[in-house]
Amino acid sequence: MVGTSSFHFFPVFLLLLLLLLLSFSHFNSNQFTQVFTSFSPFRREETNHTTTTPHVSLDGVLSTSMYKSTKHKAATIKKKSNPERIEQDLAKARAAILKAVQQQNFTLEKQDTFVPRGSIYRNAYAFYQSHAEMVKRLKVWTYREGEPPLVHNGPLNNIYAIEGQFMDEMESKENPFKARHPDQAHIFFLPLSVTGVVHYVYKPITTVRDYSRDRLQRLVTDYINTVAAKYPYWNRSRGADHFMVSCHDWAPEVSHANPQLFKHFIRVLCNANTSEGFRPKIDVSLPEIYLPFGKLGPPDLSRGPNNRPVLAFFAGSPHGYIRKILLEYWKDKDSEVQVHAQLPKDVNYTKMMGQSKFCLCPSGFEVASPREVEAIYAGCVPVIISDNYTLPFSDVLNWSQFSVQVPVGKIPEIKTILQGIPDSKYLKMHKRVKRVRRHFELNRPAKPFDVIHMVLHSVWLRRLNFRLSP
Ligand SMILES: *[C@@H]1O[C@H](CO)[C@@H](O)[C@H](O)[C@H]1NC(C)=O
Ligand SMILES: *[C@@H]1O[C@H](CO)[C@@H](O)[C@H](O)[C@H]1NC(C)=O
Ligand SMILES: *[C@@H]1O[C@H](CO)[C@@H](O)[C@H](O)[C@H]1NC(C)=O
Ligand SMILES: *[C@@H]1O[C@H](CO)[C@@H](O)[C@H](O)[C@H]1NC(C)=O
Ligand SMILES: *[C@@H]1O[C@H](CO)[C@@H](O)[C@H](O)[C@H]1NC(C)=O
Ligand SMILES: *[C@@H]1O[C@H](CO)[C@@H](O)[C@H](O)[C@H]1NC(C)=O
Ligand SMILES: *[C@@H]1O[C@H](CO)[C@@H](O)[C@H](O)[C@H]1NC(C)=O
Repeated sequence: MVGTSSFHFFPVFLLLLLLLLLSFSHFNSNQFTQVFTSFSPFRREETNHTTTTPHVSLDGVLSTSMYKSTKHKAATIKKKSNPERIEQDLAKARAAILKAVQQQNFTLEKQDTFVPRGSIYRNAYAFYQSHAEMVKRLKVWTYREGEPPLVHNGPLNNIYAIEGQFMDEMESKENPFKARHPDQAHIFFLPLSVTGVVHYVYKPITTVRDYSRDRLQRLVTDYINTVAAKYPYWNRSRGADHFMVSCHDWAPEVSHANPQLFKHFIRVLCNANTSEGFRPKIDVSLPEIYLPFGKLGPPDLSRGPNNRPVLAFFAGSPHGYIRKILLEYWKDKDSEVQVHAQLPKDVNYTKMMGQSKFCLCPSGFEVASPREVEAIYAGCVPVIISDNYTLPFSDVLNWSQFSVQVPVGKIPEIKTILQGIPDSKYLKMHKRVKRVRRHFELNRPAKPFDVIHMVLHSVWLRRLNFRLSP
């Protein structure tokens, strides 16, 4: 798709924001890669959808008419584009962030009870101010086209829960970021659920060919073409102020069939694998959060730092090449480095994390694992074992302050590496894990600085880095 007008990157702010805030981590540089061998769409337990199946043909040739919503009045929206006003607003936000960076201080908002401080942030002043500007200004337009369950509906529990929870929050009446009219919006959300598509469209799967991603790709492309034809917003920015959110392993592939269309589009993904085309400066890494049915997180069974008898803990199936290596070396072999393929029946997973100093978070079939967040919730220092993984919110957070990176090649040395961390350093890391927790917590409705705000803030930062020409 070629737009009619253009947008410009903002060189000054590329420097300020991308260098100060967006200094991307380059983890795992000396590790090896292996061929991705598994392709099951239902690798994980299925999500609990209670909605009915959609009116789509299962051959995947879905007409764009399915996105022409009848329920909403989107089609009657008048053209009264005012990008200038939006750009002025963004310019004020940039100026305030710049000032906070230069003065090493910020303008405290009256309602804020929390102020980010300390080394877990790359630049706490810039982050505070940027978050405050977002809360003050940001308006998001969620396209109304399409019908559930593929659109406007995502999993609210289980492994991909963050996808549905985010969508549900955006669509909720109380969402303070909701734009009343798309002309007000700084960013545009495409409420497509990749998990929904895989769940409802990819059924039944009988042959390897049925896994082909073309149906998924066609659906997403159709949606974009529909909104691009109907409204001026996509063409105006060539998609740079548009985003989608998905935790499904397949989600990165939505753009593989037509990279040009997705060139500027922001994909918010759990599977933030740079080897699979994740672009740290455009895309956003989304934390994977396992939610038990009807809950917003696991129970808090976290113990104090001096009351954790287990050095390191992992339990999980041998999904993917990294876990195979981990299990090969450590499975049921060491009482201090407890690695299990299957948790013994009398052992409680959440409790174990709360009793361990370090929690091993190896990549599985995709780079992200719910363990990073579970470890943080349990006050257990995450040990990231991955290749090519851009960690969530690494624009803002300095992960090396509250986690340990173990290259895949050093899996046999895990015990030595963790035992080599002095107590004083461990205590600091533990404290920082507790401090970073609020940024991974899910609240409904969302609260400042929580995970939904962090996701929005990541998109907001990307929007701050360019300007639309009027
Ligand atoms: C992925 O990780 C491997 C091993 O660390 C490295 O050799 C490769 O360059 C990385 N690829 C990208 C795209 O970062
Ligand atoms: C799925 O949701 C239904 C309706 O909300 C509920 O009754 C059922 O117990 C859930 N199933 C699972 C496996 O969580
Ligand atoms: C930072 O700003 C606050 C007001 O927001 C002010 O009270 C404080 O003195 C400033 N600190 C510095 C170091 O300028
Ligand atoms: C992040 O923390 C590491 C130490 O863990 C430090 O060397 C590095 O300078 C920090 N990065 C930033 C941007 O603060
Ligand atoms: C956006 O661009 C596409 C392709 O160039 C075009 O078909 C479509 O009509 C344009 N949309 C609008 C609203 O002009
Ligand atoms: C672990 O124990 C907690 C508290 O007793 C309980 O709420 C939770 O359901 C248990 N988890 C499992 C997986 O049994
Ligand atoms: C990341 O992507 C590469 C390239 O597709 C793949 O080989 C690798 O297995 C992926 N990593 C994980 C953990 O899925």
